[in-house]
Amino acid sequence: MSLPTRRIGGTSVPIPGWGLMGFSAFYSTDKSDEDFIPNFKVAYEAGCTMWDTADIYSRSGLGQNERLVAKAMKALKIPRKDIFLCTKFGFGLDMKVHGDPAYIKQAIERSLKDLEMDYVDLYYQHRVDPNTPIEETVKAMQELKDAGRIRHIGLSECSAETLRRAAKVAKIDAVQTEYSLWETSIETNGVLDACKELGITLVAYSPLGRGMLSGKFRKHSDLPADDWRRTNPRFSEENFSKNIQLVDQLASFAKAKGCTAGQLALAWVHAQWDGIIAIPGTTRIEALEENIGSVKVELTKEELKEIRAILDQFPVAGTRYDAQSLKGLNI
Ligand SMILES: NC(=O)c1ccc[n+]([C@@H]2O[C@H](COP(=O)([O-])OP(=O)(O)OC[C@H]3O[C@@H](n4cnc5c(N)ncnc54)[C@H](OP(=O)(O)O)[C@@H]3O)[C@@H](O)[C@H]2O)c1
Repeated sequence: MSLPTRRIGGTSVPIPGWGLMGFSAFYSTDKSDEDFIPNFKVAYEAGCTMWDTADIYSRSGLGQNERLVAKAMKALKIPRKDIFLCTKFGFGLDMKVHGDPAYIKQAIERSLKDLEMDYVDLYYQHRVDPNTPIEETVKAMQELKDAGRIRHIGLSECSAETLRRAAKVAKIDAVQTEYSLWETSIETNGVLDACKELGITLVAYSPLGRGMLSGKFRKHSDLPADDWRRTNPRFSEENFSKNIQLVDQLASFAKAKGCTAGQLALAWVHAQWDGIIAIPGTTRIEALEENIGSVKVELTKEELKEIRAILDQFPVAGTRYDAQSLKGLNI
């Protein structure tokens, strides 16, 4: 099966993309990097070749996830040109956000070294640095583009206002932000409208609600003890029992439609606008294949209306990040 494509800047990219974070950060795994090489083979052979990593996806220091990409591509002899590789900079080892030109210049060199590549296809600022004007950050990113170190410029979790300012300095090709059946704030905070108006691709992260929308978790204690989601407000014991109602409603809808709950979630994201690319993350081959299969699910206008009615009836309980992290979003 060849996958449908959508555009990022002037480049056609197959959908869905693939989020690699779970291999190296935030979510619990008992496997080592080498165990995951077969997953990359399956993705590559299925044509799922837009891969999303970040320098901060790492259990110690920076770059573990980027080094895994390099390891997999080398082991599988995947030609560089066959992958649309996206990575991000911004969080330093001090966990503060840095967007000044000197930081960016050393961050790209470290990422390229870890990736064993001489360019990145899409380079994002992971979070907007409140202490550096966005114009300075984006100018530095444009210089990387002019030098051939990156091919497209992206921002993650920016506000609509910041995006508009950035777009006056350089061509912004993509905005990455959370968007899913349980996180729709970009529909009302101006970000989605700004992307549409400026012709910027919206890359939807956590499109499966960090796994919740797949139905794999039934209760708070299903999350492993060392899993970051245990600390996320939407997965708290109290909110879990409310949010599972939405999940169950959507799962019943998916069952009647003849697809899985996860596939419904991904098809819904892609149905909202043809400028959106979802990047579901998975560390398992069966789930990867299931997510890729979501492109076969088509939702009618009537079905989209019915799904909206479910969202209205079962509002999500809890904020999407804790109070401290929320301060770093939508700047
Ligand atoms: N820019 C940012 O700030 C930011 C923030 C978060 C994430 N991201 C990016 O977005 C990507 C995706 O987001 P995410 O990983 O947070 O959330 P997600 O894609 O919504 O969900 C991932 C979770 O769902 C599970 N899963 C995936 N496919 C499944 C399936 N078919 N059936 C059952 N469970 C399934 C995964 O577990 P298994 O591994 O066990 O399948 C994992 O626990 C990340 O990998 C990362 O690249 C970016």
